[in-house]
Amino acid sequence: NRSFTIAQSSGFKSVGTVASLDKDGQILNKKSPVGSVLVIRNPNDSNSLIAVNPTCPHEGCTVKWKKSEKYFDCPCHDAEFAPDGKVLKGPAKKPLATYQAKIEGNSVVVKA
Ligand code: FES
Repeated sequence: NRSFTIAQSSGFKSVGTVASLDKDGQILNKKSPVGSVLVIRNPNDSNSLIAVNPTCPHEGCTVKWKKSEKYFDCPCHDAEFAPDGKVLKGPAKKPLATYQAKIEGNSVVVKA
């Protein structure tokens, strides 16, 4: 499978399918080849993707993407993060880790 080969050779790893991204509005894969990853479509540019490690830097809860508000929200102590991972609201002090992400064929691929 050609797109798989390209994805592997460029260091990108498949974390899910485009079909599930569009069905669920996100891909949350805690056991992907690059570790825990949450992928969404960029709210400001639907042709690009955003991928973060959804593990909250505060105490390790899994953040959720708030589509209408356009930020990541931590359910544990209400920290908020911008689409680029930056802290919008504490108690978290460090940003979410971000990854490069793109679509290759039917796969969503991420580079750690
Ligand atoms: Fe996320 Fe505390 S674990 S705000």
